[in-house]
Amino acid sequence: MDIGDMMVSSKVDVRHLRDSEKKFEKSHNRFIDEDVPKYRFPERRMGSRAAYQLIHNELNLDGNPDLNLASFVTTWMEPEADRLIIENLHKNFIDRFEYPQVNNIEERIVNILANLYNAPVDGNFVGTSTIGSSEAIMLGLLAHKWNWRKKRRSENLSTERPNIVFGSDTHISWDKFARYFDVEPRIVPIRRDSFMVDADTLIDHVDQNTIAVGAVLGTTFTGAFDPVIEINDRLVELKEDRGIDVPVHVDAASAGFITPFYEPEFRWDFRLEQVKSINTSGHKFGLVYPGLGWLIFRDGSLLPEELKFYVNYLGDEMPTYTLNFSRGSSMIVGQYFNILHLGREGYSQIVSKMMDNASYLALRLHQSGEFTVINDAKHIPVVTFKFSGKERFTLFDLSYKVRERGWIVPAYSLPPDAEKTTIMRVVVRENFTKDLIDIFVDDLIKSKRFLEGETIRISHRSAREGHPVS
Ligand SMILES: Cc1ncc(COP(=O)(O)O)c(C=O)c1O
Repeated sequence: MDIGDMMVSSKVDVRHLRDSEKKFEKSHNRFIDEDVPKYRFPERRMGSRAAYQLIHNELNLDGNPDLNLASFVTTWMEPEADRLIIENLHKNFIDRFEYPQVNNIEERIVNILANLYNAPVDGNFVGTSTIGSSEAIMLGLLAHKWNWRKKRRSENLSTERPNIVFGSDTHISWDKFARYFDVEPRIVPIRRDSFMVDADTLIDHVDQNTIAVGAVLGTTFTGAFDPVIEINDRLVELKEDRGIDVPVHVDAASAGFITPFYEPEFRWDFRLEQVKSINTSGHKFGLVYPGLGWLIFRDGSLLPEELKFYVNYLGDEMPTYTLNFSRGSSMIVGQYFNILHLGREGYSQIVSKMMDNASYLALRLHQSGEFTVINDAKHIPVVTFKFSGKERFTLFDLSYKVRERGWIVPAYSLPPDAEKTTIMRVVVRENFTKDLIDIFVDDLIKSKRFLEGETIRISHRSAREGHPVS
């Protein structure tokens, strides 16, 4: 089937319809003459073209994904990838019996990623695709909880108060795991000066009841890396000195498709002894549309048998480890397309380009004299910055103002103990080229100028009215 056939066009193909339906489509497709049913199931039909146009028009109010500098998530794929995605939209991934090849492709990608993350060659790693990193994180940590409990039971020790240790710079999905799966979160604040967690402080929170320690590679807040090597080393010492053996789960949602290509010598993955599981988002720098994540365990024994569920597959029993049952196949196929098409060479080139563009953005912001760059894309193409001087308006105001030009760029305050610092963050994705960066920085500065002028106008007006603005 050609991609054009699948795309919704404003010309409705009525050839396959019954006569009464043809009549209906013809008479109901030209005009949209009724209020749109919003909250109740509509009693009557609407012509398909009219329904399409109504929804299409409303969605025009959404932001433009290409100008969305807030998101880590892919907004562009090659036309051949789009084509494969459309061709596989109607395959339910869980139907392994019906769609064995998509499942084979998933297995190939798990192998490819385990290899990319340096899983021991003689080991029997396992892994799965997920809907995103959140699901992958929850599944990874759940396995560690079960392993901890099993070990405690085998030693006749209490299993009552499991805890998990991570920094305040982790994504909300870590807090979600703790709450949903009843594990005490021991959240270590990031430092006010460096905006990073300290490995020693993190390890100070570990005890016999710790199911895992988290290390984030590419924090959502600044793109920085948690000190994963130091965390690993401290845990190895703890294991050797006191017999407390705690796994590290690495949240490489962002870095999982960057670091292996940009800093291949950097040891963050299964080369580190205590790193037992890793998640990454295919839909971030894996360069696939949402939603796709991956979870890899360095060894099959880390995935408790009790957490696997079996579905029939050509007469065989195939284990599954997911929270969701039905899901699409397209993104897995899209991931395989990228891997085949780009290879290490292509991913490396794209990553280098993004990093180069991110450095250029950091430089332009710095040279403007208006902003202080906090994170200049050391490990992943994310740039964070704040005002270099004191302003009478906030970065939130600036974010709002620059949105008028279509740019979506978030401002937010950092997590504890750095909550007094507000920053802006730009994720430099593949399509954010130097030309666009120039336009963006100019727009940002123009917006700032406007706010400076407007603040002065507002304060004058208010002062005259007897309400001075401080
Ligand atoms: C570090 C980190 N972990 C986890 C997640 C959650 O990932 P997903 O949106 O793929 O569920 C994100 C999302 O931005 C993230 O930045």
